[in-house]
Amino acid sequence: MAIRKVVKIGDELLRKKSKPVKNFDEDLWQLLDDMRETMYKNDGMGLAAIQVGVLRRCVVMDVNNMFLEFINPVIIDSEGEDISEEGCLSVGKFNGRVARPMRVTVSAYDRYGYPFTITGEKLLARCICHELDHLDGILFVDKSLDKDKYFKSGR
Ligand code: NI
Repeated sequence: MAIRKVVKIGDELLRKKSKPVKNFDEDLWQLLDDMRETMYKNDGMGLAAIQVGVLRRCVVMDVNNMFLEFINPVIIDSEGEDISEEGCLSVGKFNGRVARPMRVTVSAYDRYGYPFTITGEKLLARCICHELDHLDGILFVDKSLDKDKYFKSGR
């Protein structure tokens, strides 16, 4: 395993759309292991592959002491609304409020290519939405209710 460098806001790479994972092979496992280590090293709650410079649709997260990996995740259902603060390893110190669904159901694959579905509420739902946004080049500051504060602060 190795700790990889986290790509920071301002780098256009973060705005790209990630491509589906096709091969569930050792390269993917290495990537996921490195993402996990990089996330923990930086005290993050989640990390998308694009944040370590790899444009593939996979994310890792650790919410409520539960480690999760999602490959090619898709949100298939969402419900309600929850407004709370979030942050991002690619953004730095700024935390801002974002409206997210209260509950989401996501379909994805595990690292071996087996499909699974999971429903998350509140913090887990928030984390899933945040990480999946990364796969489409979206950062939480784009949608934050506090984005004026962020963009005016000069970062
Ligand atoms: Ni993030």
